[in-house]
Amino acid sequence: MFSSPFRLTSALGLVAALLPLAQLAAAQSPVWGQCGGIGWSGATTCAFGSVCVKENDYYSQCQPGAASAPTTTTPVSTPPGQTSTPTGSAPTGLSSIPASKLTQISNFGPNPNNVQMFVYKPAKVASKPPLIVASHFCTGTAQAYFSGSKFAQLSETYGYVLLFPSSPHSGTCWDVSSDATLTHDGGGDSQGIASAARYAITNWGVDASRVFAVGTSSGAMMTSVLAGAYPDVFKAGIVDSGVAFGCFALPGQPGDSWNAQCAQGQLVLTGQQWAQRVFNAYPGYTGARPKMQVWHGTADTTLYPQNFNEEVKQWTTVFGYPSTPISNTSEPYLPSGYSNATFGPNFQAILAQGVGHTVPLFEQQYLQFLGIA
Ligand SMILES: *[C@@H]1O[C@H](CO)[C@@H](O)[C@H](O)[C@H]1NC(C)=O
Ligand SMILES: *[C@@H]1O[C@H](CO)[C@@H](O)[C@H](O)[C@H]1NC(C)=O
Repeated sequence: MFSSPFRLTSALGLVAALLPLAQLAAAQSPVWGQCGGIGWSGATTCAFGSVCVKENDYYSQCQPGAASAPTTTTPVSTPPGQTSTPTGSAPTGLSSIPASKLTQISNFGPNPNNVQMFVYKPAKVASKPPLIVASHFCTGTAQAYFSGSKFAQLSETYGYVLLFPSSPHSGTCWDVSSDATLTHDGGGDSQGIASAARYAITNWGVDASRVFAVGTSSGAMMTSVLAGAYPDVFKAGIVDSGVAFGCFALPGQPGDSWNAQCAQGQLVLTGQQWAQRVFNAYPGYTGARPKMQVWHGTADTTLYPQNFNEEVKQWTTVFGYPSTPISNTSEPYLPSGYSNATFGPNFQAILAQGVGHTVPLFEQQYLQFLGIA
């Protein structure tokens, strides 16, 4: 069971606040909870103060506020005093970033889709700090992921800097399907995010060897995209309930299009085919690949659990690892039913038995994987 009450609180707190399990959603879905979609059997009404907003055929979500349009990218659910307005430019040094306050930045480099970008700097920054890019789920925002996670709180302990991108698309899914976003320096949302990370390396003294990406659901897919298309920028990726790199590819359609075939786990390829999608994203790249940790629930009906198997095939092939794990164990700090399969030093795959969309965040474990904690 849990060895740490802290983790228990964190995991359950997130379930309640943000990411409900289907089986807990008997009466009403909480704010940020799923409230509908094909395959959804949980609650279809939302907690007081939130409304059910259809994101796509497969996903509706309880969003705060009455009758707010699903197309807005305006920050929602922002704790008072925790964001500031755009500065009109990106801070030229770490010292010009306000401490302990989510702050929007702009003009940080090529950003063809106008991804909004927010930075969080803790009160005490480590020397040559790591950088973590944390990408939100569909219908989410930078503010929602900021306030619904412990990434910012833990940065106050460990001294890393955070970037929280915010999707520019209606419904706020990420562009994880366009040719542009799936190509190194090819444009799309991924280029905007990579630009901000590069800006941080160049201007803020961030340690280029410790630039990491994490994300949930659509943000998990973006994390796979960043790991596949920008292996020169990102040194590790943590994918919470996402899909393999390139699985959502829909050339010629709007970049934030939903790929039902992939979502439902019907895009089944060989490891070689999956790896080729990664290699094609940045032809000629021969450097190291980011180490990857993927998490998925077996009861996920938004991004079906087959996607876990496809991710395993992809990254084991990219790394040249055997297709079966060298160890696969339960962990004292994870709930029972979670198995941690290790295929090699650079790839782990955690499967959560009976858990739906999405697996709750385990920030402290992520930081361990990233070598921060
Ligand atoms: C690890 O073991 C569990 C059973 O304990 C199994 O369900 C899971 O598929 C295994 N993971 C991998 C990646 O093989
Ligand atoms: C999974 O196992 C590996 C190898 O023992 C370990 O390094 C890692 O911390 C574990 N990951 C999780 C999330 O427990």
